[in-house]
Amino acid sequence: MNQYFEEGENFLWIRDREYQGESLKISLKMLRQTHRKANKQGMIAQDLYTGKKYFAKILFCDDLDSIYVEKESKVRLYSPFIVRIYGGMLDEKKKRFITLVEYIPENDLSDLLYQKGIRGDTWNQKLKVCHKIAMKFLYGIDHYMSIYRSDPVIHRDLKPENLMVSPDGSVVKIVDFDWVHLHDSNQTLLQRREQRGTPGYVDPRYWNGYIPSKAMDIYSAGLVLFFLYTGTHHFHDNEEIQHQLVGDDYAYTLKEMPGIDPEIRRIVARMIAPEGERYGDIREVIADMEAFLRSRGLWEDIPELLEDREDEEDLIRFSYKIGDVVYRPYVKKCRFVPVRFGTRQERSQNGRMSAHILSFYRVGDRMKAIVLHEDCHPTKIGDPDRVSEGDTYTYAGTRIEILQIK
Ligand SMILES: Nc1ncnc2c1ncn2[C@@H]1O[C@H](COP(=O)(O)OP(=O)(O)O)[C@@H](O)[C@H]1O
Ligand SMILES: [Mg+2]
Repeated sequence: MNQYFEEGENFLWIRDREYQGESLKISLKMLRQTHRKANKQGMIAQDLYTGKKYFAKILFCDDLDSIYVEKESKVRLYSPFIVRIYGGMLDEKKKRFITLVEYIPENDLSDLLYQKGIRGDTWNQKLKVCHKIAMKFLYGIDHYMSIYRSDPVIHRDLKPENLMVSPDGSVVKIVDFDWVHLHDSNQTLLQRREQRGTPGYVDPRYWNGYIPSKAMDIYSAGLVLFFLYTGTHHFHDNEEIQHQLVGDDYAYTLKEMPGIDPEIRRIVARMIAPEGERYGDIREVIADMEAFLRSRGLWEDIPELLEDREDEEDLIRFSYKIGDVVYRPYVKKCRFVPVRFGTRQERSQNGRMSAHILSFYRVGDRMKAIVLHEDCHPTKIGDPDRVSEGDTYTYAGTRIEILQIK
């Protein structure tokens, strides 16, 4: 019998140290169950002391040998477009594995489109939100794929249910790295896994074996974009899904997308095309989407996505101190300034965030900040809506201070 968590139950979660240098202990209260399946349970949990909420994913396993879920718990990605994963704990006595991730108080894309829908009074406003969601989703994929160039991380189960999205597109986060291919994965773990993605979203070529390939995620991402823009699954009923799994032309031919710019349809069609004709890299998709949005004058509508402007007129001089070292980047319009601890401060390329702890960015004439690492805490913040001179943060005992914004 599985020992499911009860709502209201307290539980001391201690991160397994095997995969992780630092220890992390959190006294949790299990607040609410979000879903329960035969061998899985999802719970919203809360830190009893700080009140911070978490999403706990519990996997039950009679045979402790067959635990494979620690794969997700090993994922460490720091991007605003990817869920934060804090780690995993094997509860040997109760034969369960608990992975703790950032709680995202939003719907997944599937629920969002079937329930509240995308925000916007007009079709055009809704479309703009769709573009924003699409770009953030693609940047999230680019983030994990670009960390290890020679053996990229592959999600392997991209689908609408695994993308958390707010109705206005401000929050977009890829979740559920259960089936991830990690560069240092251990083969014996891989052989145990039976799932190879989700029918209707997985490229049938990859259904019958374990070959990690960027092409696999690009295919699924194309179908997610189709769903985002049309509100319907590309392969929707059982018959279509069965037909798709055969893996002939049908699986690689895009349906019509009524009311959607033909250029978007062209891009999505190339994402699901047979390999060879398909995009080889997600950055090519990003480049085409960006060129499309610029050509239609829509790029300006996505301030978070930062443009790399030629005119140097409109700069913010921004300086901050990490420990004893002062940095003085010039911040162009809408540029992220990701801060990576222990390395030279560096800018991201056009919005791709490589930051590990904290990131400053610019929207109009304001600087904003995103905390990306759970060990980084604001200690003094003047205005919660913008970064102000004198704001301070700490990270692992190091002080980060904003000196000047001009
Ligand atoms: N971090 C999160 N915060 C809140 N809800 C989440 C979070 N991650 C996933 N969910 C919701 O729970 C569902 C199942 O979670 P997921 O990680 O996809 O697990 P599974 O492996 O069971 O598919 C998702 O489809 C989504 O609706
Ligand atoms: Mg899922």
